[in-house]
Amino acid sequence: MISTEARREAAILVWSGSDRHATADSLAELNMLAETAGLEVVGRLSQLIDRPSPATRIGKGKVEELAEAIRDHCAEVVVFDDPLTPAQRRNLEKKLDVKVIDRSQLILDIFALRARTHSGRLQVELAQLEYLLPRLTRQWTHLSRIRGGVGTRGPGETQLENDRREVANKIAKLKERLADIDRTRRLNRREREAVPYPTVSLVGYTNAGKSSLMNRLTGADMYVADQLFATLESTVRSFVLPHGAKVMLVDTVGFISKLPHELVEAFKGTLEQVVQSDLVLHVVDSADRELPARIKVVESILEELGASGIDTILVHNKSDLPGVVAAPPGAVAVSARTGEGCPSLLAQIETRLGERDEEVAVELSVADGKTRAWLHEHGRIISEETDDETRRIVVRLGARATGR
Ligand code: GTP
Repeated sequence: MISTEARREAAILVWSGSDRHATADSLAELNMLAETAGLEVVGRLSQLIDRPSPATRIGKGKVEELAEAIRDHCAEVVVFDDPLTPAQRRNLEKKLDVKVIDRSQLILDIFALRARTHSGRLQVELAQLEYLLPRLTRQWTHLSRIRGGVGTRGPGETQLENDRREVANKIAKLKERLADIDRTRRLNRREREAVPYPTVSLVGYTNAGKSSLMNRLTGADMYVADQLFATLESTVRSFVLPHGAKVMLVDTVGFISKLPHELVEAFKGTLEQVVQSDLVLHVVDSADRELPARIKVVESILEELGASGIDTILVHNKSDLPGVVAAPPGAVAVSARTGEGCPSLLAQIETRLGERDEEVAVELSVADGKTRAWLHEHGRIISEETDDETRRIVVRLGARATGR
């Protein structure tokens, strides 16, 4: 019988830096990332250093220690939490004779594993190639030696053996194809904008519970898993607020600290929906010990996307868990699991969106039943009076609907 389950590569994780307090948490997160990428973590190593060595990042003695751990555990991959320069990576691979990658590359690999749609795969491939290109430049004569990421995923060994021009060509082609997809997406968006419903986006650190909350609010049956980056592409579903207004809810890719810049760039198309939305729900895992740091990461990525000016509600999810951080004033505590707090979240969404509603007075001919029906569907009717020929309606409409 042939086993279809791929053997997991044994990996050793390395953290180095000057902040003693950051060690445990960074290694724990790197551990989770490594497992998500399908690696088996067999060892962890850390070193407190003020100035990393330009040649190998960690000190000479630490490299020896690492080599020994690799031998003891038959490790095949070493993953550094911090970005390695091409030279550091090359030196380390030469000394250790195993594959050496850094956190960015690990995240790119996970995205490659998770991408399910055509455009998702193209975006990840673009990010991987852009990440590789500057690294190819300097190692030009060693091209055939460059190893890929975890396993044989990613742009593939064949591309790595191609010359630089071919990689650049490929990048150009991918960009063209993505631009095509983007054009189609824009057209679709224009169609959606013609639908005068407000859009609410879910953003948050990976594993905060965005997809679970989406399911809870919309009754949708989305993929929820206790793993990082379960959702890569954004999904749009509609739901109805307590007073009957319809809203579009967008679930997006999870954020993480030190998200490779190439990925943020590549996913800008997908994340543009966030920039276009009327309200952002920033979902946090309120049981997370590193909550303030996670919130900062998400805020800085929102800023990079140009979405930091959008009205935001902080949603403290997982309120069913013991020992959670109390939601600060203005934030809403919910549990996507039990549904607790969701009615107040809906009320908050309604209030925030309602604040931008406008009261409009419309005069229609009595015969115009179509417009009257439209106003009833999209707004909240304040008053309606009819005489022989005219109907006067005062209605509260959202910004999009008023535009129409
Ligand atoms: P990414 O796709 O990585 O961005 O994750 P996400 O933010 O969409 O999180 P997801 O909804 O996939 O949930 C992550 C994990 O948290 C899952 O194991 C969920 O079951 C769990 N979870 C989500 N909401 C709650 C909650 O309210 N309470 C508890 N106890 N667990 C929750």
